[in-house]
Amino acid sequence: MPTFTEMWRDLTPIGRHTPTNGYRRYAWTGADTDCRAWFREQTLARGLRYETDRNGNQWAWLGDPADGDAVVTGSHLDSVPDGGAFDGPLGVVSALAALDGLRARGARPTRPLGIANFSDEEGARFGLACVGSRLSAGRLTREQAYALTDADGVTLPEAMEAAGQDPTDLGPDPERLARIGAFVELHVEQGRALDLGGHPVGIASAIWPHGRWRFDFAGEANHAGTTRIADRRDPMLSYAETVLAARREAELTGALATFGKVAVEPGGVNAIPSLVRGWLDARAADQETLDTVVAAIRRAAEERARRDGVDLAVVRESFTPVVEFEHALRDELNRILGGAVPVLGTGAGHDAGILSASVPTAMIFVRNPTGVSHSPAESATEDDCLAGVHALTDVLEGLACR
Ligand code: GLV
Ligand code: MN
Ligand code: MN
Ligand code: MN
Repeated sequence: MPTFTEMWRDLTPIGRHTPTNGYRRYAWTGADTDCRAWFREQTLARGLRYETDRNGNQWAWLGDPADGDAVVTGSHLDSVPDGGAFDGPLGVVSALAALDGLRARGARPTRPLGIANFSDEEGARFGLACVGSRLSAGRLTREQAYALTDADGVTLPEAMEAAGQDPTDLGPDPERLARIGAFVELHVEQGRALDLGGHPVGIASAIWPHGRWRFDFAGEANHAGTTRIADRRDPMLSYAETVLAARREAELTGALATFGKVAVEPGGVNAIPSLVRGWLDARAADQETLDTVVAAIRRAAEERARRDGVDLAVVRESFTPVVEFEHALRDELNRILGGAVPVLGTGAGHDAGILSASVPTAMIFVRNPTGVSHSPAESATEDDCLAGVHALTDVLEGLACR
């Protein structure tokens, strides 16, 4: 079987965009389809039973999941715009390598073992993160998924169909999830806690509550060279003030608030915009702080919009409540890994967080020396990746080969 390093070498050219060196593996595009084909090939080469579920998530099985109490590991292969190499793929490639490691040890699983690649985790194309796991866990309805469109107006079912996937059966998959006794997602750390503490791997404790809000500022398009300042209804001003308010509120409360995407209509250099649409990503350690921050940003936006003669509509596009990973499983991982691994919280969303409402779930983090993520500067050394594989192998052995 190809080693971790060989798999990594084969997978990493797919969807890499030059000259940024970032990944553009958006759900159901050619690059994503190539990644999915790669995953399927890898699982078949290992003699695993391969299947795609009603939501396009890919699964591979050693043993029969119908026996129940399965141990599943995996992550996602799609990326954010110009994402790094590790967010997602590290968990999938490590899962395959850990299974090989388990076999090389001669370990005999007494529980079914699964590897999963969840579809559309990042939400880069349709705006909603964790679409595959949300659908399966019943936290996104078929109707809501059908209403998702990308920037070109392509709907999610159309995109799936174009990628050769049947979208007719999108929806909850409780029977499949009920067969899983434990889901462990390995992921590159998206901060520097492990690096600062000198640890190659850690375990997740919790995921902060987080969500995405769309702010639509509607003004009046007009000539940049002839419209007097007093006569303008410029939504860019309201938007700019809102971005500054987001930073201010984040600093005041310790929350995180980011406007990372903006669309301007009509988008002419010499025209006052008619519409500025900005997306707020906000996260905080607790629900109350998050609510306070979003309300304050919204108030600031409303006040400024009133001054600018601009209409404002705010839509919450997605929301994920706080996730506390299961204590018993976390303690079990800690015991398996020798009891000395740090336990970290994170502000990043994951399929593991979505599944945690239905399935006992845990996460393993691998050190990221730059601490950067959702960027080509995301990093992990080969030694640390292999330490992650070793840890995951130990966990699969400890959980499934009792
Ligand atoms: C997913 O990576 C997220 O936290 O946005
Ligand atoms: Mn991510
Ligand atoms: Mn991820
Ligand atoms: Mn070991």
